[in-house]
Amino acid sequence: MKPTVLVTRAVFPEVIELLSQHFDVESNQVDEVYGEDELKRRLQGKVGLFSNPTDGVSADVIRSVPGLKAVCNMAVGYNNIDVAAATEAGILVTNTPDVLNETTADLGWALLMAAARRVTESEHYLRAGLWKKWSYDGFLGADIHGSTVGVIGMGRIGQAIARRSIGFDMQVVYHNRSRLTPEQEAYANHARYLGKEELLRTADHVVLVLPYSPASHHTIGAAELALMKPTATLVNIARGGIVDDAALIDALKRGTIAAAGIDVFENEPAFNPGFLELKNVALTPHIGSASRPTRMAMATTAARNLIAALSGQVPPNLLNPEARQP
Ligand code: DGY
Repeated sequence: MKPTVLVTRAVFPEVIELLSQHFDVESNQVDEVYGEDELKRRLQGKVGLFSNPTDGVSADVIRSVPGLKAVCNMAVGYNNIDVAAATEAGILVTNTPDVLNETTADLGWALLMAAARRVTESEHYLRAGLWKKWSYDGFLGADIHGSTVGVIGMGRIGQAIARRSIGFDMQVVYHNRSRLTPEQEAYANHARYLGKEELLRTADHVVLVLPYSPASHHTIGAAELALMKPTATLVNIARGGIVDDAALIDALKRGTIAAAGIDVFENEPAFNPGFLELKNVALTPHIGSASRPTRMAMATTAARNLIAALSGQVPPNLLNPEARQP
């Protein structure tokens, strides 16, 4: 008899097929989002969970499934999983790093350019039939080329953002829990390490790429926004909760900063409706990694992690090696 696993959200049929070669798969191709009770109910009797960032894999969920051995998240972020509770229960947890770095960095740049150059706002104007004449000061924005980009969270995606700035003849400053090696800094367009406050004062534009944790909650709030240049653009491609969205909306209304490009929101998908009243924002619904090849790579990576974890091997992207039984 094959081990049974739960796939919580719709995924590429090829990936269900791959999993089915190894497991009895309960899938969810109708793509209902399971709340905690439904997740607990469906997990009963399963040994593996192919989870998504929309699933709250809390300590409660983990403790309610005594036979569970592995939780393999289809995302690089894993703040939806209580890893400490999983470790305590001897459950392996994995994520999907690396395969989405370049695609997510691309979206960071798309949002930066769209917001700074007022692409979304001017497109809405055009679509609304308001464009009657060209004018010298129509939709003046900020330059990207030649400017200084500040990257907060200089992991793999942050470094990919920095590398892209070479083509725009830019300077890079960054803030991170730990400094990069001199070689890494050189490869990331000679990125210069700064304290957070100095970065916010120095950068022409700021991109957030740090993981969410209680320690990074509201890394950017009213006080931090007040340090930024009034011509600056803020981009959040990291996680909702890293920015105090109400404070950001207020700063955008007052002109404390010029614009924002936002892909992730507090309490998403139920974001702060104040964003919709603003013209100086480019908004996308958490699509940082959403290219077909990258989402396929993420799904395949999560599936391979699950296959390895449930066949006694060390999964390639194991987050909690201490959970493995000796
Ligand atoms: C991730 O991988 O963490 C992304 O945010 C999900 O697309």
